[in-house]
Amino acid sequence: CGAELAALVAGASIDVPDFPKPGVVFKDLMPLFADAEVFRRVIDGIAAHHGPGSFDVVAGVEARGFVVAAALAYAAGTGVVPIRKAGKLPRKALSASYALEYGEATLEVHEDAFVAGQRVLVVDDVLATGGTAAAAMDLVERAGGTVSGFTVLLELGFLNGRARLSSRAVRSLLTV
Ligand code: PRP
Repeated sequence: CGAELAALVAGASIDVPDFPKPGVVFKDLMPLFADAEVFRRVIDGIAAHHGPGSFDVVAGVEARGFVVAAALAYAAGTGVVPIRKAGKLPRKALSASYALEYGEATLEVHEDAFVAGQRVLVVDDVLATGGTAAAAMDLVERAGGTVSGFTVLLELGFLNGRARLSSRAVRSLLTV
């Protein structure tokens, strides 16, 4: 259930003060990935929530989103599409840029990554300001996919990233 998944995420994440810069508390989810039992329960919990057949493919955002996306796709019996940082993809790709606190970042996906109308569940580890998620969903739709939802393990609610993703089905296992 939702409370159990939230407790698993809370119990398997580590707060790292002053990373990547002073004043920021980084939420490290690598202990969750490293714990076989917790990882399995979290991934199976996400798959069960959506139900069989409710999406056709999983898209994951580089880099930690790949861990969630690949496991979920395997559990749900779908394929996985990586959404990559700029300059990594070998074939023709679509790009979406978004503002960071300083400068900007760009995500890319192959232009033929999705079959038209394919239902795509977009996943990542953390939702913070929402810039990454908004860009990822924009890319999926420009590439012909239909975003069926966006799921993260952990949402930093105080950054209000969810507000940038209005009208999307956004789900986080734990909000802090
Ligand atoms: C982190 C996280 C999300 C993103 C969320 O990735 O994994 O993708 O930031 O931030 P936002 O909501 O403010 O856009 P990061 O850019 O650190 O990349 P990494 O997974 O490759 O370390």
